[in-house]
Amino acid sequence: MHYDEIISWLRETDSGRLDALYAKADETRSRFVGDEVHLRGLIEVSNYCCRSCAYCGLRGGNRDLQRYRLTPEEILEAARAAVSNGYGTVVMQAGEDHGITAGWLADVIHRIKKETGLAVTLSMGERAESDLAEWRHAGADRYLLRFETTDPELYRKIHPAPPGAPSRIALLQKLRQMGYETGSGVMIGIPGQSYETLTRDILAFRELDLDMIGVGPYIPHPATPLGRGLLHSDLREGEQAPATEDMCYRVLALTRIVCPQANIPATTALATINGRSGRELGLQRGANVIMPNVTPLEYRRLYEIYPGKACITESPQHCGTCIRSRIHAIGRTVGTGPGGRVREAVPA
Ligand code: 5AD
Ligand code: FES
Repeated sequence: MHYDEIISWLRETDSGRLDALYAKADETRSRFVGDEVHLRGLIEVSNYCCRSCAYCGLRGGNRDLQRYRLTPEEILEAARAAVSNGYGTVVMQAGEDHGITAGWLADVIHRIKKETGLAVTLSMGERAESDLAEWRHAGADRYLLRFETTDPELYRKIHPAPPGAPSRIALLQKLRQMGYETGSGVMIGIPGQSYETLTRDILAFRELDLDMIGVGPYIPHPATPLGRGLLHSDLREGEQAPATEDMCYRVLALTRIVCPQANIPATTALATINGRSGRELGLQRGANVIMPNVTPLEYRRLYEIYPGKACITESPQHCGTCIRSRIHAIGRTVGTGPGGRVREAVPA
């Protein structure tokens, strides 16, 4: 699929034609990654962050947020909850927290691998190459780092960076060279994101040959400059990509068609804007992964990237049972094992 075709799908108004796009995405998903839905237990390790991204509630400048960092024992306990719910992977995510030292996390990774054998995915922000290498040696399998937008001007505007901050694209390439499966993605509908930019973002997924791609709606957070409407956008009327549920499905479907083998989650942000059927519709329009939360309950409300996050009061067991029944209700199966990237089509 080329630029013109992608952008016209993003602007399509005929719902019958969109249904055909969704059917094609679902067929592509089934052929390349099968009917299994892989479950990844999400552990929100720390909400400390030294950065000031204009959209994110964890930004260092947000003084109203109580900060926490899990202990290694709490992380191990969350990994055990992932095992007991039958998940094959844990995803450790945090703000950019330099209180998480390379050695500290390497030790935690090592203990998780030794005790549980789970696949380990990290999402720790922009870290020094030496940290990333140390974590890979300790056994980490995958790394998630969304590039957020391909528009350099918009990127600069919403990511104040310290001097010498690496380019995320360059970092993704480094991660791949280190042997990580690499994942990236964007938010849909950030103020200043045009249809053109979003089209280029989707094409970049293919150019980067990503193993994992996460996309979800932008949800304004009132403790952020973007959420307060303080950043000015130059886009003319009709150019801004909307942060709607409908736009998320289009992007999910196009992403699947453009990157047929990728692991693509139906994200928590999507479940946040439609708790009743967002995840199911995501799974039927391109997605093949869900990331249920296994963070200890007392910390959940503090990991407030955006407000209203789905499932913040549900126990890991509750979400595990809920997700399974939702997957079965749409005629899909729950994946077993690590569920890494496959490079061949599933036999017919
Ligand atoms: N709305 C939606 N998604 C957000 N993220 C950060 N802030 C928001 C927000 N306000 C996403 C970013 C980040 C991921 C962890 O969460 O894409 O990479
Ligand atoms: Fe958490 Fe349904 S997935 S309650």
